[in-house]
Amino acid sequence: MFKSVQAVRGKPLCGEITVPGDKSISHRALIISSIAIGTSKISGILEGADVLTTKRAMQALGATIECFEDCVWSIVGRGVGGLRAPNSVLDLGNSGTTARLLMGLLSTHNFNTILTGDASLCKRPMDRVIIPLRMMGGDFESDSRYKLPLTVKGNLETLPINYKLPMASAQVKSAIILAGLNAPGSTVVSEPIASRDHTENLLRAFGANIRVEELGDGARSIAVEGQPELKGTEISIPGDISSAAFPLVAALIVPNSKVKIVNVGINPLRIGLINVLSAMGGKITITNKREKNGELIGDIEAKSSSLRGVRVSANDVPAMIDEFPILAVAAAFASGETRMEGLSELRIKESDRLLVIANSLTKLGIKVEIGDDWLIVSGVKDDGCLPEGGSQISVELDHRIAMSFLVMGLASSKPISIDDYRPVVTSFPNFAEKMQELGADLSMDLCR
Ligand code: S3P
Repeated sequence: MFKSVQAVRGKPLCGEITVPGDKSISHRALIISSIAIGTSKISGILEGADVLTTKRAMQALGATIECFEDCVWSIVGRGVGGLRAPNSVLDLGNSGTTARLLMGLLSTHNFNTILTGDASLCKRPMDRVIIPLRMMGGDFESDSRYKLPLTVKGNLETLPINYKLPMASAQVKSAIILAGLNAPGSTVVSEPIASRDHTENLLRAFGANIRVEELGDGARSIAVEGQPELKGTEISIPGDISSAAFPLVAALIVPNSKVKIVNVGINPLRIGLINVLSAMGGKITITNKREKNGELIGDIEAKSSSLRGVRVSANDVPAMIDEFPILAVAAAFASGETRMEGLSELRIKESDRLLVIANSLTKLGIKVEIGDDWLIVSGVKDDGCLPEGGSQISVELDHRIAMSFLVMGLASSKPISIDDYRPVVTSFPNFAEKMQELGADLSMDLCR
């Protein structure tokens, strides 16, 4: 395993690549097929640490999951409400999505499960799922208030609820929907701004009855009919737009580059970064649009561009929630200021991303201003220069921080290194290889 990695400004990035499967869809495909009746075949699953955590958890809960040589996974499910008690504690590593989705699912099963995770996951708030799940009859016990490690207590009588989410969170929405599958009648959840809808799309593909209503101003309500018979099916998972974001921004900021990423998920609720980069003057085109299992897919091409700062408002945030580290890097190369608002959720991701982005850019010679939930990055293009670089960034167990600052190093005056490459396995295990395939100069120091 490699530990520290250095990125150096070098030749243009050129070529065509794929990126690993979508992390959010991979988690959900494994979870939903584990509660379907019959066999599901899933291709394109992300074989990254977080998704492998979900795989192990679903196996411990009784699903049969096998992976064949052609990377097609076969899952034999146990039916809605049919999971069995695991023999030991479930360690969910770094994966917030696994933790929150499983809390929803397990709170409606009649056995106790102990969930734990790594140092980053054990700091993340779980009250956002515990509060609505308690209303449905679930119960939880934890020494550290509303945090992992915690016990999900078994429950025999799940009640459907009508719940208004206080924040736009696909993880919380999905936890409630998964709990609602095991309740009689319809469970309704409404969100202030639509968040990624992969749970809804996949559940439909497995035969569930999901009704979505637009409530105006970007708000939505989702109703799920409880106790359906989900039927095993075939799912093909597209490349992850949140991983494609790194080579895309690299192509925009490294001069004379042209990069195409094929077979990427372009769900409208995930492409906020593409919209913002295009508004910044980024030359990005999407071709070969098609649909599979309710998800839009396309090929994305990006060319070196002269970027200018823009304002990203709170309503734009859910569709690009994981892309702020790499957007902030793009903003450092732009002319003028990029103002990003409504970023409070960034404080509780794998790291306090708002703070880590601001501190890291400052260390690399970029002027930033930071507030409780906003960030302004002053691009260096007006002064006709490049970001200085020349420092090592501490990634704070955060995969997206690690990849973002390596991308920045590919176009800065002096090299940028990161102190720990290991978190990258969370979502993009072959990141360095894929970037090197495009011509990136990344050098690895072996971990001893
Ligand atoms: C995810 C939803 C987002 C995102 C996370 C994955 C998901 O979190 O940040 O990486 O798969 O549902 P929130 O829904 O909490 O914003």
